[in-house]
Amino acid sequence: MNDAPRLPLLLGLAGSLREQSYSASVLTTLARAIEREGIAHVDIASVDLPLYNQDLDVEPRPTAVATLKQAIDQADALLIVTPEYNHGLPGVLKNALDWASRPMGASPLKGKRVQAVANSPAFTGGVRALAQLHETVLSCGCHLHAGPQVVIGGVAEKIGNGQLNHAPSVEFAVNSVRAMLAHDH
Ligand SMILES: Cc1cc2nc3c(=O)[nH]c(=O)nc-3n(C[C@H](O)[C@H](O)[C@H](O)COP(=O)(O)O)c2cc1C
Repeated sequence: MNDAPRLPLLLGLAGSLREQSYSASVLTTLARAIEREGIAHVDIASVDLPLYNQDLDVEPRPTAVATLKQAIDQADALLIVTPEYNHGLPGVLKNALDWASRPMGASPLKGKRVQAVANSPAFTGGVRALAQLHETVLSCGCHLHAGPQVVIGGVAEKIGNGQLNHAPSVEFAVNSVRAMLAHDH
C-alpha cells in the first residue's frame, strides 16, 4: 500500500500562442523544477480557444473550451504566466479566462488558488499585465496567492533553448508556488 501523500495537481497556462514564446518557456521550466522538487504534478493547458461568444457558451461547448474548463476543475491550483501586450493582459489569456469564468459564481475558477507570473523582454517585466491578471482572477473568485510579485524582466537574455536559464528567477517563482500550495484555502 502506498501511504505517500497525494501531490497537488497544478495546471499551467501561458498567455501566448507564439511558437518560441518566452512565457511558454518560463512555464515549462517552472513546471519541470516544481515536479523535480516534488512540490506538485504539473499539467499544461492550451489557451488556443475560439473567441468568447456568449451564444456559444451553451452545451455542447467548443471542445477546446470544455477541455480547459475540465482541466481547471480537476486542478488544485493554477500557475499562470503572462506576457504584456500594450501595457495589459494579452487577449488570448483574457479570452481563456472569460470562457473559464462562466457560469458566474459557480465556474471552475471559483475558489481556485492562483500564482500569477509576468515576464517581458523589457526591464518592467510585464508588471502592468500582472496587475490586470490579478484583477481578472480576483473577479472570478480565485484565491490569488498574495506576497511578493513574481515578475521576470529582461527575459529574452534569460531564455535559451526554450528554457529559463536564470536560477534566481526560477527559485523565486518556485518558492512562491510552494508557499501557495502550503496554504490550504
Ligand atoms: C502587440 C504587442 C504588444 C506588446 N506590448 C508590450 C508591452 O506593453 N510591454 C512589454 O513589456 N512588452 C510588450 N510587447 C513585447 C512582448 O513582451 C514580447 O513580444 C514577448 O516576447 C511576448 O511574449 P511571448 O514571448 O510569451 O510570446 C508587445 C508585443 C506585442 C506583439
